[in-house]
Amino acid sequence: MRVLSGMQPSGAAHLGNYLGALRPWVDSQSPDAFYCVVDLHALTLDMSPADLRRQTVELLATMIASGLDPELCTVFVQSQVPYHAQLSWLLECVATYGELTRMVAFKEKSQRSQGYRVGLLTYPVLMAADILLYETECVPVGDDQRQHLELSRNIAERFNARYGETFRVPKGIQPVVAARVMDLQDPQRKMSKSLASPLGTIYLTDEPADLERKVKRAVTDTDGSVRLDWEKKPGVSNLLEIFAGLSGERPDAVAQRYSSYGDLKRDLAALLIETLSPIRRRYYELMTDPEELNLIATEGARRACAVAGDVYDRAARAVGIA
Ligand code: AMP
Ligand code: TRP
Repeated sequence: MRVLSGMQPSGAAHLGNYLGALRPWVDSQSPDAFYCVVDLHALTLDMSPADLRRQTVELLATMIASGLDPELCTVFVQSQVPYHAQLSWLLECVATYGELTRMVAFKEKSQRSQGYRVGLLTYPVLMAADILLYETECVPVGDDQRQHLELSRNIAERFNARYGETFRVPKGIQPVVAARVMDLQDPQRKMSKSLASPLGTIYLTDEPADLERKVKRAVTDTDGSVRLDWEKKPGVSNLLEIFAGLSGERPDAVAQRYSSYGDLKRDLAALLIETLSPIRRRYYELMTDPEELNLIATEGARRACAVAGDVYDRAARAVGIA
């Protein structure tokens, strides 16, 4: 099954990115899977050119360190495949202003800044181009992207109706039910790249001592019983969900084994150290070898271009510019 997904190079990857995106990507990797660092999307954010360049390389290294095998699937950087920006323009002339202004992510982000960039409005059209260029069937992303996926389908159907069968309409999109990883210090809030919470965020590159300290200090409650109850015990529930996400168990099964927060935290820290240490080591190893990362990106872009080029040409002919 053809799979495509992308992540913005908007900062150091954390445990939420790993459990909600990177690990499901690794689980569905195959020669038919495409994963990209969407650096063009990140231009909608306020970021210096140096940061964008550095974070793009860092995310590429993180994706590979997390287990994506560039021999097995295609890992690439969006801007190195020119068809994304090119198809995006063709699709902008199919999408309507009304449907773009209805996007919840746009409404939220545009409210936060005066004189926001037009790219914030057209962002989901570029995302539709990412998806349609690869004749994608399945897009593993979190629930927050559901509306954008629906828009991609609508744009594809409208294009096909207007210009003739051109795109495969991404069908049966099953957004991964992202383990929603919450901030360890504020379990009502999602662990996030943008809101700095030094003790509440677990980064994939955290050292064992950091992991132990963060888990030990994680907010719980005074009730003392280990059970899953998001309403009354969000902190403990978050720790159980994280544990279960890492071990592949059910959170209530994990809860049954523990009678104290201390034991749960001790074992969770050990599990995090065991899971993240190889990722951290591989990440730093890759970061010392920019040549190797460059080669991986170049080969990924070559393979991506071979697929995307054909689809783009078909779309260009359909609208009458080729
Ligand atoms: P972002 O960090 O918002 O660019 O998201 C990149 C990917 O990680 C998306 O697929 C999100 O759904 C996923 N993700 C981000 N934060 C979390 C979180 N706290 N829990 C689970 N998944 C997350
Ligand atoms: N919009 C997605 C996010 O914010 C990132 C993204 C861009 C994406 N293009 C994509 C995800 C294509 C899946 C497929 O998380």
